[in-house]
Amino acid sequence: MSSADGEKKLNTISLDGETVSFLDGETIYEVATRNRKNIPTLCYDSRLDAFGGCRLCVVELEGSRNPVASCTTKAAPGMAVRSATKKIEKYRKTLLEMVESENPETKVDPLRGYASHELSTLSNRYAAGNGRFKGKQSGKSNLDDTNPFILRDYDLCISCYRCVRVCAEQEGDYAISIMNRGFHTQITTEFNGLLKESECTFCGQCVQTCPTGALGDKKAMRAVDLPGEIEKTRTICPYCGVGCSVDVLTKNENIVGVQPAMDGPANKGALCVKGQFAFDFVQHSDRLTTPLVRGQDGKLHEVKWDEALDRAAEGFQRARTKYGRDSVYGVASGRAPSEAAYMMQKFIRAGFGTNYIDNCSRA
Ligand code: SF4
Ligand code: SF4
Ligand code: FES
Repeated sequence: MSSADGEKKLNTISLDGETVSFLDGETIYEVATRNRKNIPTLCYDSRLDAFGGCRLCVVELEGSRNPVASCTTKAAPGMAVRSATKKIEKYRKTLLEMVESENPETKVDPLRGYASHELSTLSNRYAAGNGRFKGKQSGKSNLDDTNPFILRDYDLCISCYRCVRVCAEQEGDYAISIMNRGFHTQITTEFNGLLKESECTFCGQCVQTCPTGALGDKKAMRAVDLPGEIEKTRTICPYCGVGCSVDVLTKNENIVGVQPAMDGPANKGALCVKGQFAFDFVQHSDRLTTPLVRGQDGKLHEVKWDEALDRAAEGFQRARTKYGRDSVYGVASGRAPSEAAYMMQKFIRAGFGTNYIDNCSRA
C-alpha cells in the first residue's frame, strides 16, 4: 500500500492490542496464526478454500455487532481484533459442547487418521466433554462398505465437509458429496453406493483430513490393539518419481501405517492409493530377501549375489545373440538417484547398443 506522495505504508491491524502487519488477501486467521495466536478450528484445512462452517474460529471485531469467523474474514487496514476474550472462549466452548452432543464418542484412536484427534484435543482444551447438551445425532455409519481401506463411521461425523472439499479441491475426484440437511445430513457417494462403485481412487485424503475419525484408515487400524507406542518416521514414498513425503507409522519397529506429510514439498498432504495403503510388501512373508536362480531340477534355489548376477548376464547375452540388440529393454526406477539413472542408461545404450531405456516416473 502506498500513500499519494509515494511513501510506502504497511497494512496493519490491531491484534489483541498489538499492531501487526498483514499481506493483501490474508485472512484474520492467517495473520493471527502467523503471530502465534492459537485460534481453534474444526472445518479449516489450510490447503482448502475457507468454508466458515463450524464458527469455532470466531473473533471479536471492533465495530461488528457479532463475532466474525476469522478463517473467512479478510484482514483490512485499521481493524481491531480480539482473538480470545472471555466471551469468545465461552462461545467456543458452547459450540464444542453442541458439536460433541451429536457424537457418541470423541476420543478415537490416532491410527484412524492424521487429523482424527482434532475434536478430542479441542474438547480437552475447553473441558467441553460434560454432556451439557443432549439431543439428536446426525450421520449414520456405513460400516457395510467392505472396501479394504476406508472406514465410514459417520456416527462420528460433524458435517465439517472437509472430506468432500478435499476430494473435490485437492484430488479433483468429486467422489463424495452431501445428502439431506440439518440432523439428516449424510456424507454419501453418487447414488449412495459403495466407495468402490464410485469415482473414488482411494487416495485417502478424506481420511487424513477428517477431524473426528469418522473416516478411518482401516489398514492402520489393524494395529490398534498391538502393544507399543506409535512412532512416526519421515521419509519419501518408494513408488514413483514424484517423491511424496510421508510419515511411516511403526509400533515395535513394525510398519503399521502411512500418513502423508502435510508439509511435504511435492505433495502437501496428498498421496495416491499406493503410497497411502500399499505398504504390506515391506514385511510380507513372500518378499524375496536373497537372490534365487533356477537349477537343473527346474526349481528356484537361493544363491549368492555374484552367482545370481553371472546368471543374469548370461541370460542377457543369450537373448542378444539370438534375437538382436533390441530384444533388451531397460526400465529404471523413478526413485533412483541421478548417478544410478545415468549408469542404467549407459548399461543399456553402451552395453547392449539399444536405445530401449525408460523409467517408471510416469507411474
Ligand atoms: S466425515 Fe469427517 S471430514 Fe467428512 S464431514 Fe464428517 S467429520 Fe467432516
Ligand atoms: S479416498 Fe480420495 S478419491 Fe476417495 S473419497 Fe476420499 S478423497 Fe475422494
Ligand atoms: S474454522 Fe472458521 S468457521 Fe470453521
